[in-house]
Amino acid sequence: MTENRSEEAGYRAGPTESAKGRLYEREAAIQTAQQAIDLLRVRYAAGGVQLGSLLLYSGKAGMGKTSMLQQIRALAGSQGLTVLSGRAAEQRTNEPFYLLRQLLLGELLALPGDKLSEVLGPWRAVAGPALGLVPPTGEDLDPQSVQQGLDVVMTQLARFQAPLVMLVDDLQWADPESMVWLESLAVRCPELPLLLAIAWRPGELPEGFRGFRSLVANKSHQHLEFQGLTPQTVGKLVRAEFQDAEDSFTRQVWAVTDGNPFLVSGLLRKVRESGITPVHENVPLLHDLAADAQGMDSAYWMGKLTLTTLKFAQAAAMLGTEILPRVAARIAVISPAAATDAIAELRRHQVLVGPADGPLEFVHPLLATSLYKSIRPATCTAMHGKAAVELEIAGRPLVESSRHLLETHPDNDLEVVAKLRRAAREHLAVGAPAAAVRCLERALEEPPEDEFRAQVIYELACATLLTDPVATANQMQLALDTVPGLPADLRVDAAFRLSEVLAHSGQVSEATELTQFEAEQTEPGPGRTRLQVAHFIWAAFQRDEADGRGRSARLAELTAGLTGDDVNARAARAVQAWDLTLQGANVTQVQALLDSVLDQGRLPVELGWTTNAWGLELPGIIALAHIYTDRLDRAEQLIDEAIWAFGVAGWEGGHLGIAIFLMGLAKFRRGALAEAEVELRNALRIARRLGSGLPLQWDAVGVLADTLLARGRTEEAWKLAADYSFAPPYHPSAMVLPDAATLYGKLLLAQQDRAAAAEVLQGVGSQLSARGWHNPIWAPWAGHLAQALRPRRRCGSPSGTCSGPGRTGSGRRSAARCG
Ligand SMILES: Nc1ncnc2c1ncn2[C@@H]1O[C@H](COP(=O)(O)OP(=O)(O)OP(=O)(O)O)[C@@H](O)[C@H]1O
Ligand SMILES: [Mg+2]
Repeated sequence: MTENRSEEAGYRAGPTESAKGRLYEREAAIQTAQQAIDLLRVRYAAGGVQLGSLLLYSGKAGMGKTSMLQQIRALAGSQGLTVLSGRAAEQRTNEPFYLLRQLLLGELLALPGDKLSEVLGPWRAVAGPALGLVPPTGEDLDPQSVQQGLDVVMTQLARFQAPLVMLVDDLQWADPESMVWLESLAVRCPELPLLLAIAWRPGELPEGFRGFRSLVANKSHQHLEFQGLTPQTVGKLVRAEFQDAEDSFTRQVWAVTDGNPFLVSGLLRKVRESGITPVHENVPLLHDLAADAQGMDSAYWMGKLTLTTLKFAQAAAMLGTEILPRVAARIAVISPAAATDAIAELRRHQVLVGPADGPLEFVHPLLATSLYKSIRPATCTAMHGKAAVELEIAGRPLVESSRHLLETHPDNDLEVVAKLRRAAREHLAVGAPAAAVRCLERALEEPPEDEFRAQVIYELACATLLTDPVATANQMQLALDTVPGLPADLRVDAAFRLSEVLAHSGQVSEATELTQFEAEQTEPGPGRTRLQVAHFIWAAFQRDEADGRGRSARLAELTAGLTGDDVNARAARAVQAWDLTLQGANVTQVQALLDSVLDQGRLPVELGWTTNAWGLELPGIIALAHIYTDRLDRAEQLIDEAIWAFGVAGWEGGHLGIAIFLMGLAKFRRGALAEAEVELRNALRIARRLGSGLPLQWDAVGVLADTLLARGRTEEAWKLAADYSFAPPYHPSAMVLPDAATLYGKLLLAQQDRAAAAEVLQGVGSQLSARGWHNPIWAPWAGHLAQALRPRRRCGSPSGTCSGPGRTGSGRRSAARCG
């Protein structure tokens, strides 16, 4: 919702006269808001940009928060500033991005086409669906990318329409998706030419709004908690209505309402309606009248409205906001003529406002809440079912109507299952997986037909893929175990995705076993090959392996059987190239294999970083094989592509972290140690953000420690390793890149602990040899062992390792020689 920019700069209404009703005891608050607006306008005119500030208003229902925001709107509008406003709605908390659209959609749609394109930039496809600007493509969107896109769009909009005032009301009902965006905006607000005013009821703020809660708690912003009005002010309000009200009467009005302005006006209306005179004898009546006015239960409404009007009002309350009269009438099962009468009656009672043909709004959200609560539970569920149908008939999107289906009782209705599954797909396509999960969980309760049950569980697992790996793993396993089972292609996909979640959470052995087992259960064909390739990928990243040589032989056999150039064949060859690299096979053989995977050195689209069927490990393996066969240019080119592709996709977590790590590794191998250190520290920062102990953290710490050794900073390397517990038994199941034990031996050697180094390196040697891995660059244990076992020489160095890394400044050469 947007206020038009007004150029009537000359008009400077006194704050309390600009709104319809006078606001008592809010002079200081209004003055603060006025100053914030003035400051924004003046500083912006003087060329400032980073001028944003936050005004926070909390208070119980009826304390005057909305009235305060209206004051700000009037003040900012009178100064010609653009004002965007949005109000969350109690009935629409389940509708993703509802609040966001309220705030931005109108303003964006009003922009000329070229300006809109500039504001959206490259984020049109990612942020556009959430904003309601472009239809979703049907592809699932990563919620993090969507939020990132929304951040960029908001920044652009704030710059184009600067200076901007944004008013957010009833935050306690914000849909979680909008809330994530708003929390980020609130933090970034000081960097933008934006005054952001937010109002909420503190007692009703969901626990989950943690970012916002801590923002409020850190007290660095203007925050006013509105309290009730004083007895003197309540006296003025009473006397504005009843000139000769007696003091004891006005005092009691204050006492029974706590000075809450909304309750005061409700009570005064009651007093007027019941014809009571405002004198001392009637003071005892006020308590019950106030309870009546506050309660607004079904008896209250039945006493006030005709039955037909009450039904219409309850249907309107069910819709909550933007109420279309014909939809409400159909939900209430009343004729259009009766609806017209009901609307007139509700306007007369100051319950609804808006044009007779809609959309209508409640005068105050408390009225909507009480009317909704006045519906009997059984009727309420039935009405929600009807609301879902009627909204759909009225052409409203499924994301809007499906929220009503969530409120209905399960009823074995296959149509409902189908709609909820469709709604879930739509939610995923705007980047709202939590909403999709709600729909799919409800669909399972309905329940679906037996033959589709596994499929719905699979869809549920996919919905949490990017946000909740534990839930994904559980649901995916359930989908695989459910009988009747998944169709063959979905089963392959489910098995692969489960293996991916397991591997990424460190359960590499489980991923290896699962893909092998499922491949054996799958009919020969591309699906089976996909699982076999996945099996060999995970196996390649296992820390320990009983039959490494056997696996290498089976992999060679698989590759030999896939002679074509299709994606499965290329993928298998890529995995084999990596396996041969670890075996220390002839470099020419490995390079020839890699060439047959790539198209003139470039990744084919179906093996792309974000587009292949196996995830980033597959192109990652190709990059690693390049690194360890001394094709560092190609490796860096490939990794550059990854960093770019992940950036575009908004995969800035683990994916980007791994790409940066690989770049660090390539730089290290090249001997560009300073650059390597920067990349590796960056990768480590990302790894720490993601959680502690992930394989990425091990990888980054290992190569960073090696880089520090090569730069002669032995103590720093040792401290880094100690800080991150880089020591046996290493990661419980994932292999660390490059070999962790070899590096640990090297660190011990650098610490002059030759005995311990020798023991570790001997163990590494026998373990890797048993596995058939003899690559001296990947795991240069033999060279280090020779150093550890070499008889001490007298050369001025206590350890005898007088040519050891760093001490003589020859670390870089040593690293290049030994790996
Ligand atoms: N300071 C005030 N002086 C006089 N009247 C007031 C004052 N504050 C609010 N009112 C009146 O009280 C009523 C309720 O105010 P308002 O709707 O702003 O409350 P609110 O805090 O937004 O409540 P809710 O949390 O339910 O949205 C309105 O009719 C408003 O005009
Ligand atoms: Mg309000």
